[in-house]
Amino acid sequence: MEGKVLENKVALVTGGSSGMGRAIALGLAKYGAKIVCCDLKEMANPEGYEEDKNVPVAELVIRNGGSAIFCQVDISNAEQVGKAFEKTLTEFGRLDIVINCAGYWAPFRDFAHEDDELWSKMAAVNTLGTARMCRLAIQQFLKQEVDLKWGSRGRIVNISSCAGGFGFPGEVAYSATKASINHMTRAGALDHAKDYININCVAPGVVATGMARQNFENNAIHETMKKATPWPRLGTAVDIGEVVVFLCLPGSQWMTGQVLAVDGGMTIGVPPPQ
Ligand SMILES: NC(=O)c1ccc[n+]([C@@H]2O[C@H](COP(=O)([O-])OP(=O)(O)OC[C@H]3O[C@@H](n4cnc5c(N)ncnc54)[C@H](O)[C@@H]3O)[C@@H](O)[C@H]2O)c1
Repeated sequence: MEGKVLENKVALVTGGSSGMGRAIALGLAKYGAKIVCCDLKEMANPEGYEEDKNVPVAELVIRNGGSAIFCQVDISNAEQVGKAFEKTLTEFGRLDIVINCAGYWAPFRDFAHEDDELWSKMAAVNTLGTARMCRLAIQQFLKQEVDLKWGSRGRIVNISSCAGGFGFPGEVAYSATKASINHMTRAGALDHAKDYININCVAPGVVATGMARQNFENNAIHETMKKATPWPRLGTAVDIGEVVVFLCLPGSQWMTGQVLAVDGGMTIGVPPPQ
């Protein structure tokens, strides 16, 4: 067992029902954090690869001896987000960690064929939704004391994408909104380092989740993604979860404003011929 270094900490995870958010929620709960799973749906994405996907994440945490609640939230809806923060405080009395993992992706299409509707939805969820979550989290953290043993007043970890750091074909709106998450991480971290609030970001490569299943099942796309990833395998939700959990532990307290690529080397250069 990891030791309960996050006991007495409350962690809100958006997109927590499935994939990476689910792995993050379960990972934080192992360290004793109380979990608020915020998602559109309580049940995991049915396309997901999780073996236990028929059990809601809050129930899994409770079965393992932890504390957790589910909160139905669309992060693009300001009223629902506000209510999720209220519910968190009513239930657990505080908030220490916010993981912004909920995101919107749509199948590949050329820039010329994107439209305002797609851009609006991407911006509403990926950019405005993530920024709103960050602002409300910081406002709550500022009402709480600094925990010097943990090293922080509060932690935020955003999930962007490797597509936010380098050009990715067929994903212009997605890439642009994910790049906005990278940059709100850096600029926001500058504003609040003085307050002992860490804001970091993980930029995943290709990860086997429900969101990516259609890419994994399309031979041409799957082969392209394997070739673009120097590491011998593509990613799992747990690969991302482990790094996000590290960004919430005492050992990472002097890190802020960082965008960490967790992508099997996808963004370091062109892999050699195989
Ligand atoms: N899978 C990949 O290859 C990959 C790569 C890079 C980045 N990402 C990003 O990782 C994050 C997690 O995705 P995943 O791959 O684990 O997918 P997933 O489908 O397994 O999980 C996403 C979860 O987010 C929830 N969600 C979606 N929109 C929401 C909203 N508006 N409000 C609240 N919850 C919402 C879904 O219901 C789902 O439970 C996303 O931000 C995604 O853009 C994924």
